[in-house]
Amino acid sequence: MSENCGMQIESGVSLKPYNTFSLPAVARTLVRVASDADVRRVADHPQLGRAPKFVLGGGSNIILTRDMPQLVLKVEVRGMRLVEERADAWIVEAGAGEGWHQFVAFTLAHGWPGLENLALIPGTVGAAPVQNIGAYGVELQDRFESLDAVDLVTGRSVTLHAPGCAFGYRDSIFKHALAGRSVITRVRFRLPRPWQPVLGYLELERKRAETGIDAPDAQQVFDWVCAIRRAKLPDPAKIGNAGSFFKNPIVTPEQCRDIIGRDPEIVHYPMPDGSVKLAAGWMIDACGWKGKSVGQAGVYEKQALVLVNRGSATGSEVMLLAQAIRESVYGRFGIRLESEPVVV
Ligand code: EPU
Repeated sequence: MSENCGMQIESGVSLKPYNTFSLPAVARTLVRVASDADVRRVADHPQLGRAPKFVLGGGSNIILTRDMPQLVLKVEVRGMRLVEERADAWIVEAGAGEGWHQFVAFTLAHGWPGLENLALIPGTVGAAPVQNIGAYGVELQDRFESLDAVDLVTGRSVTLHAPGCAFGYRDSIFKHALAGRSVITRVRFRLPRPWQPVLGYLELERKRAETGIDAPDAQQVFDWVCAIRRAKLPDPAKIGNAGSFFKNPIVTPEQCRDIIGRDPEIVHYPMPDGSVKLAAGWMIDACGWKGKSVGQAGVYEKQALVLVNRGSATGSEVMLLAQAIRESVYGRFGIRLESEPVVV
């Protein structure tokens, strides 16, 4: 480790503990940033300023296939607080390095509900806007107020609102034009008042019917979401994974009709714009992949959309497995699956 302008520069750092898939990879150089000023110091640094960079959050949405020659910036900005109490909303803020689930629990404990459907999503607050996380009928963009980011080229801090983030389905500008270019340091959420539960999702409706609780409070919804996720998604602390490995593909109604003609059972959801979202997990399952492996990389037994590390998987094994799945889904349904996590 070396000290340079008050900055600790670490060399040869194993990234295995820093990615939820537990894939082996080494960062040649790593710097931890805990504030906007820290990011600015990197941007202004004579050597580091010019080096290509990779921004690492909770490592919950990346597949590491090789050692990292780039400068890895590990975001460790902390702090959670209520920024403003409006008649129509609570505005709450968290540092990008805070754990996402801990933040959701914090907001509920303080009586600021609205994020409960997004409970137990692995990763950090700063990574949440990057892929516009979503679950059980709520997406980050539905609760988003603004975020602060530091531009790695100019060292300038900016505040972006939703239009500037170009949110899409598991997508944002931070996966494209701003990838490796800016570091998100803080994110603010707008939690509408009065609170209204979002219960449209089938599995939540099922919980409501099972328990007979017709008007659940936010804590109840949080508990349901945690129970649903624990029942079918692996805990990254025990089994390495990056959540859904593929996006649910969006097709035209004609393409969907064509597939239904051959596979009437296919799970699909009509979208507001007339297109149709297909359940990738269902298609992968239908191709017989549940429980299968390539080396130490496997398809989770309870949810085929999730690839897992059975112990000592490498990024290459994960990519081989993903490719084989893609080919068989394409062969049977004529659909090309896209990865959800960022492959590095
Ligand atoms: N299905 C199967 N077999 C499987 C997996 C799924 O038949 O092995 C069927 C299910 O029975 C269901 C349908 O496919 O009818 C959809 O499955 P599920 O409800 O589990 O949701 P998903 O489409 O697999 C998406 C998100 C999840 C999110 C859930 C709940 C994506 C790529 N994934 O999963 O997000 O938690 O909906 O909202 O959009 C993530 O992004 O990492 C993630 C976990």
